[in-house]
Order: sequence, then structure tokens, then C-alpha cells
Amino acid sequence: MRTNINQIKEMKQKGERITMLTAYDYTTAQIIDAVGIPLILVGDSLGMVVLGYESTIPVTMDDMIHHTKAVVRGAKNAMIIGDMPFMTYTVSEEEALRNAARFIQEGGAQAIKLEGGVTVAATVKRIVECGIPVMGHIGLTPQSIHQFGGFRVQGKTPAAAAKLIRDAQALEEAGAFSVVLETVPAPLAKLITQRLHIPTIGIGAGPDCDGQVQVVHDILGSYTDFVPKHAKQYTHLASIMSSAIAEYFAEVKAGQFPTAQQSFAMDESLLAGLTRQPATPIHEK
Ligand code: KIV
Repeated sequence: MRTNINQIKEMKQKGERITMLTAYDYTTAQIIDAVGIPLILVGDSLGMVVLGYESTIPVTMDDMIHHTKAVVRGAKNAMIIGDMPFMTYTVSEEEALRNAARFIQEGGAQAIKLEGGVTVAATVKRIVECGIPVMGHIGLTPQSIHQFGGFRVQGKTPAAAAKLIRDAQALEEAGAFSVVLETVPAPLAKLITQRLHIPTIGIGAGPDCDGQVQVVHDILGSYTDFVPKHAKQYTHLASIMSSAIAEYFAEVKAGQFPTAQQSFAMDESLLAGLTRQPATPIHEK
């Protein structure tokens, strides 16, 4: 049985910490699921960590559906949350509903996530009324990066902090089952977490949120050039991959790969028969 939103809400009540991790493909989803992580987000960070864009803005619904399907095939126990891309839920409520439905119907996800607070609350309410669980996302919402003027900590002034509290409450009132708090001061995240009945899931929001989310590439050290401040590298996959690939490259060049172990044998008499026959040019057959 997959994790459901009631279990996630109960985790807050019981004081059990919630873990969420992103995934974009079948094999990674399988590994995360086998570890027992209850929430997998097919984030639109896909655009940056898989597709090589500079931001999440170019990501399309079709990109997201394609990757959501792969994750759903890989993870059988976690709740899969599809991240709605830029402008797919803000033009009209009708469009938002259709796109949210695609994640569930085509993608096989169990919930969606979207960015924004008070401004998207009415849309969240409609999506929830249609039976689709919604996770909110406030603070440093990467789809608004041009509006923010860069990746900056949010909620640092009294007015900005008060706005974030209102945004979080608006999402709860609209029926969201949880809210991601991204890159906000830890004490503010703690205050929001205390005020809400639904769980907060932090990323760069300190230790007092009900749960934590990370981009899987960040915690695995898949980059050589950039480590976000909020991420801890639990391994250095980039260097592990690089030395394995370099070894393969060297062995092919030196004729050391493949060996008999990676090759397939053939019946000796069949081979002898073939070698006795003169090679026939294809056009004479
Ligand atoms: O797209 C994403 O991966 C996200 C997380 C960082 C919360 O939105």
C-alpha cells in the first residue's frame, strides 16, 4: 500500500519526522523506495539537474509526465508527488485542473505540488475539491526567480515574514495536505510549523520543520561545480562515476575489456563448419 496523505498528516501529530526526496527516473525511484522514504517528489528541478537548463522555467508538462511515469514504475510504496511547472496552474483555474489531472491520470502520481501562497489558494481549493491532494510550496519558489532577482533567503523583513505566515495559512485553509518551506530563516520556519496543523517540509529552512526534502543529485554529490548551502553531500557520486568511466575507457583502449567473462561462447563444430565455408558476397545469395 502506498503512503497516503492521512499517514503524512498523522506523522506531524505523532511528532514523527517526514522525509521526502526527489527522483526523476525508474532506478533512482526504486532505490529510494526500497530505503523506505515515504514521499518522492518528481520536482521541476528536473530542468536543472537532469535536463541541464539554468532554471526550472523551461520545464513543460510533457517533460514532467514522462519522468513521473518512470518514477511511478520504480516506486511502489512511496507517495509520488508531481511538481506543476511554470505557468501551468496560474493562467486559469480550468487549465490548472486539467494539468493537475494529467499528473494523476497519465503520470500515475498521487498528489501534485505547486508554488505560491495566497495568490494560488483558490486554485489549490478547486484542485483539492476535485479529489487531487495538493502540497504547497512557499519561500524561495524557484519559478519566481526573476521576480526575486536571484536565489535569495526569503522572509527576512518583518513584512516578508508576515506574508509567508499568511501564505502558509492560506494554503492550509485551501486544503493543502502539507507545505514546502524553501530557503527561509530557521526561526521563521519553526514559527510557521507551530502555527500550522498540516506538516511543513523544509529545504534550507532549518531543523524544526515537520519534515525535510532534498534534491537527490545534491545529497549524492552528482555535481563537481556547485553545492547548495542547504544540501549535505552524503557521497561524491560524480567522482565515483568519473573514475569508473575512466577505467572503462582505459580498458577498452588497452584491449582489456571485454574478457571471456563478458563474452558469449559458440559451439565449436558450428564454428568449424562456418570457417570451412568460403565467404559468399551478399549479392550472390
Ligand atoms: O523541484 C524541486 O525539486 C522542488 C524541491 C526543491 C522542493 O521543488
